[in-house]
Amino acid sequence: MAAVAVQQVTDLLKNDSSLSQRTAELTVEAKAPTQPDIEYHPDAAKYKARTARRLAEDPSLPSTPLPEGFPKKLESPLVWQGSDFKDEKEWVYVLAPAHLKEIDDALKHFRGLEKPLGHISAATFPLPTLGPVLTDLAHVLHSGRGFFVLRAIPVDSYTREENAIIYAGVSSYVGNLRAVQDAPAAVAHIKDLTQTAPAQTIGAPGYTTDKQVFHTDTGDIIALFTLETAAEGGTSRISSTWKAYNELAETRPDLIKTLSEPWPLDGFGGTPAYTLRPLLFYLDEKVIIQYARRLFTGYRALPRSSDIPPITEAQAEALDALHFLGEKYNLGLNFQKGDIQYINNLSVFHARDAFVDTPEKTRHLLRLWLRNEKLAWKTPTELEPNWKRLYYTTPSDEHTFPLEPTVRSAVRGKGVKY
Ligand SMILES: [Fe+2]
Repeated sequence: MAAVAVQQVTDLLKNDSSLSQRTAELTVEAKAPTQPDIEYHPDAAKYKARTARRLAEDPSLPSTPLPEGFPKKLESPLVWQGSDFKDEKEWVYVLAPAHLKEIDDALKHFRGLEKPLGHISAATFPLPTLGPVLTDLAHVLHSGRGFFVLRAIPVDSYTREENAIIYAGVSSYVGNLRAVQDAPAAVAHIKDLTQTAPAQTIGAPGYTTDKQVFHTDTGDIIALFTLETAAEGGTSRISSTWKAYNELAETRPDLIKTLSEPWPLDGFGGTPAYTLRPLLFYLDEKVIIQYARRLFTGYRALPRSSDIPPITEAQAEALDALHFLGEKYNLGLNFQKGDIQYINNLSVFHARDAFVDTPEKTRHLLRLWLRNEKLAWKTPTELEPNWKRLYYTTPSDEHTFPLEPTVRSAVRGKGVKY
């Protein structure tokens, strides 16, 4: 009797198209993947619980083979941890009085040329003895430990524009190409703008006093010039992604596989709505990691879009794994006013502590994204369109150097005119 009753109900559903369509919709809804429980600010307890849950569900995960051709272990000066360094003299290059005089002379020389700032280059900003030192330091970025700090430009002796010229001039010896960060602007300001810009415009932590989690920027080399430090906090932290790679390759090769497969990067309402690409590449015997966590979790005015594919549980775990490995092996750089920090953005990721400004001490950095065409690593195919847009689309003589901070259009809240 029961079987007959079930058959009758089934026939009834089959004959009622609206009912069967609704049933199908419910089935799809029940199965549709949803965004994992993960926020911009990493939560160690959630990370631990997610790892435990995933390993309980599939104990074979740590036995996953590495992707084809990927190394078991990277051996290079780029593999380091913060505790390897005992003294900041190991990475801080202090400018001598003669170098500062050369920089001052180069500024006067460039001014005398009466050219737009886009024309700043090694040719127009001559540094006879400092230039070769900077050229050598560029090798440290590409085949040494991947970072160094120049100390210190006397920023209070110069106007904002003069500081920008000095910064771009000195940096042109480290990387001959400057990227447009918000075309045609070649310089970006890193400063808390929450007191002056509308809240709905701020979609990236660089414009707040928040802790910034481990991430990379876009491009080959990041330079940060400290016009002023915060009254409290704001330590810049860097960490070797090659060190993180080695640890994951040894303990959780499945997460290396996850990182090397396509991820849905949020376009935050732009076109396309999202793009798919790996976060980790292995090319020309180099591991390259390129990602920002906010593209998968959202941040303030740019929350994760709900109409694009969510990330997976494996991807959520991999994001946290990268961040916590970054923290575990980080090196805190004791930024001083007038310092310029240079890092290889392909093998070193960075973060910064939350900070407190006062009217007298307001943290303010100027950022450049550079490329050294002689020493540059090969760019993975998936990143080429971005690199082309950054470095090879806007001619350098059209570059601008805005002297006041604004929120970059790429990280501005949706539909906000500003
Ligand atoms: Fe950054």
